[in-house]
Amino acid sequence: MIWKDICDQARDHIKPNCMACPVCDGRACGNNVAGPGAKGYDDVAIRNFKAWKRVRINMDPLVAAAPIDTTFNLFGQSLEYPIFAGPISDVALHYGPLYDDTKYNHVLMKGCLDVGTRAFLGDSVDVRGFAIAMSALKETGGAGIPTIKPWDISILQEKFAASREAGAFAIAMDIDAGGLPFLKGRTPPAGCKSEKELAEIVQTAQLPFIVKGIMTPNAAEKAVRAGAKAVLVSNHGGRVLDGCPSTAEVLPAITKQVAGRAIVLVDGGIRCGVDVFRALALGADAVVIARPYITAAYGAGREGVAFLTRKIGEELKDAMELCGARKLSDISRDMIFCDAASGAFFL
Ligand SMILES: Cc1cc2nc3c(=O)[nH]c(=O)nc-3n(C[C@H](O)[C@H](O)[C@H](O)COP(=O)(O)O)c2cc1C
Repeated sequence: MIWKDICDQARDHIKPNCMACPVCDGRACGNNVAGPGAKGYDDVAIRNFKAWKRVRINMDPLVAAAPIDTTFNLFGQSLEYPIFAGPISDVALHYGPLYDDTKYNHVLMKGCLDVGTRAFLGDSVDVRGFAIAMSALKETGGAGIPTIKPWDISILQEKFAASREAGAFAIAMDIDAGGLPFLKGRTPPAGCKSEKELAEIVQTAQLPFIVKGIMTPNAAEKAVRAGAKAVLVSNHGGRVLDGCPSTAEVLPAITKQVAGRAIVLVDGGIRCGVDVFRALALGADAVVIARPYITAAYGAGREGVAFLTRKIGEELKDAMELCGARKLSDISRDMIFCDAASGAFFL
């Protein structure tokens, strides 16, 4: 199996809004929503992809050969790579009827488990869908992270309880989902939360809590103060607010602010092992990749998901080897090329 074949096979099943591009850079889908595109008129998804490429790596092959260890621990889960499959919901609407959310989450979790990683699971308005997703989670021994929308507290209590009952080891919330059309004008209201509301939500969850949709040091600080154990630097792939910077651009300031008080994850345009290396060198602990897993699953199901993860994980190993990093904690800022005159590492 090679990645190009998986993309070709995916194109037989996927709606034309997504071209199942071998390199998913946000250009072909543009602003197609429904579909995998970005919101509005701007280029946020494309900018996410491009920003990683502006970070160049310092190669140093003059180091003793040794095994490369990419293992990562998240809240007691020992993982083979610092790579998670990201949450995507309403897959039939955006990509076509080969999967509904339940089937997609099932394939995603199983494929990730096969190679020792984990998936985030999406959430949408369909309450029954969430219950079924939780039964799939239970079946995998709790190997996924429910990523719940910022609903009203009473709905959250129900969804948190279902997540715990299914054996989840953590809960995430895409706190930026207020930018999605279907969360607007709901009764009871859903969307943005104050720091105080978030603190109550974190307490109610009773599991390690990940706040997804952090794009500034200030928001990261509020999330950590509210009790989040991890922040996920994300602009929802450009789907919630036009005009945002890329996640790579804001990552260094956020990791500096958090300074070891919480785990820092990042998503947005991360497509290969060198991108994972770039993210870790800029201070992230691990990465999340979303859209390419759709191509993997629509093209080759569970095997496709495992294939993509292993491919990116092995590319990460290659980058580590040639930069002298033997384990993830060896990856450091000085492994990134820095312009001597300006001190900039985004070139
Ligand atoms: C069609 C589609 C549906 C998504 N659904 C969700 C969701 O339910 N929950 C969520 O937190 N993020 C959702 N996302 C955002 C992704 O998880 C991720 O943050 C974003 O796509 C950036 O990562 P990527 O560039 O690797 O795709 C969705 C993205 C797409 C394209």
